[in-house]
Amino acid sequence: MRIGIIGAGHIGGNVARQAVRAGHDAVIAFSREPATLSALADELGGRAVPGAPAQAAAADLVVLSVPWDAVPEALEQAGPLDGRTVIDTTNQFSRRGPVDLGGRTAAQFNAARMPVARYTKCFNTLTARFQAEAAARDGESRVVQWIAGDDPEASAVVAEFVAGLGYAPVDLGPTATCAVMEAPRRPGAVYGEEYRRADAGAVVEAVRAGRPIPPTPRYE
Ligand SMILES: NC(=O)c1ccc[n+]([C@@H]2O[C@H](COP(=O)([O-])OP(=O)(O)OC[C@H]3O[C@@H](n4cnc5c(N)ncnc54)[C@H](OP(=O)(O)O)[C@@H]3O)[C@@H](O)[C@H]2O)c1
Repeated sequence: MRIGIIGAGHIGGNVARQAVRAGHDAVIAFSREPATLSALADELGGRAVPGAPAQAAAADLVVLSVPWDAVPEALEQAGPLDGRTVIDTTNQFSRRGPVDLGGRTAAQFNAARMPVARYTKCFNTLTARFQAEAAARDGESRVVQWIAGDDPEASAVVAEFVAGLGYAPVDLGPTATCAVMEAPRRPGAVYGEEYRRADAGAVVEAVRAGRPIPPTPRYE
C-alpha cells in the first residue's frame, strides 16, 4: 500500500520506518522544516518520498500524526479526505491548556473534524520510544495497538496494516466508547499501558458491556 504520513515526527516517523520495513511505500508530509522530511526520506531509501500534505492525503491509507494544536492546519493543508481511511494518532494535549471535547471522546471530536474520511484512531496509547522498541516482537509477546472507529471496514484495513508492522491489532469498537484508550494515563484505562493479545479480549468485552475493564496486566 501507499501510506501518506501527515506529521512524520516521533510517532509518524516510527510508522513511516515500520511501514517501509513491511514493504509499503510512504509519502511523508507536513513540516515547518521540509529538510527534515528529505532526511527521513533519504534514510528510508526509495520507498519514501517527501510530498505535500495533499499528496499524502491521496494515499491508500493516511496517518495523521501531529500535535493536537496543529490538527486544524494539517487537515486544511491535506484538503479533501473523501473516502480516505485515516489513522489518527493524536492525543488531546494542547499548549493552550485543558481541551474541551464537549463531552465526546477525542476520537469523536476529531472524526467530526474530518466527516468525509473513514476515521480510525490508533498508535496513540504507547510512547514513541516504546513503540519503536516493541514493534516486530514475535508471537504472544506482541504488543497490542488498540483501534477505534465507526467504520468496521476501515478498522479492518487498519488492523491488517498494524499487524504487518509487527503489533497485535485489537479493535476496541466505536469512537463513542473508546475513552479507555485516550489520555490521561489513569487506573481503569489502557492508555499508557502495555497489553498483549491474551489480555485484550476481556478489555473489549468490558467496554462493549459498559463495565470497568479488568486490572492492568503486568508482564515480565
Ligand atoms: N510522542 C509520543 O510518545 C506519542 C505517543 C502517542 C501519541 N502521540 C501523539 O501523536 C501526535 C504526534 O506526536 P509526536 O510525538 O510524533 O509529535 P512530533 O514528534 O512533534 O511530530 C509532529 C510532526 O508534525 C510536524 N508539524 C508540522 N507543522 C507543525 C506545527 N505547526 N506544529 C507542530 N508540529 C508540526 C512536525 O514537523 P516539524 O517539527 O519538522 O515542523 C513533526 O514532524 C501527537 O498528537 C501526540 O499527542 C505521541
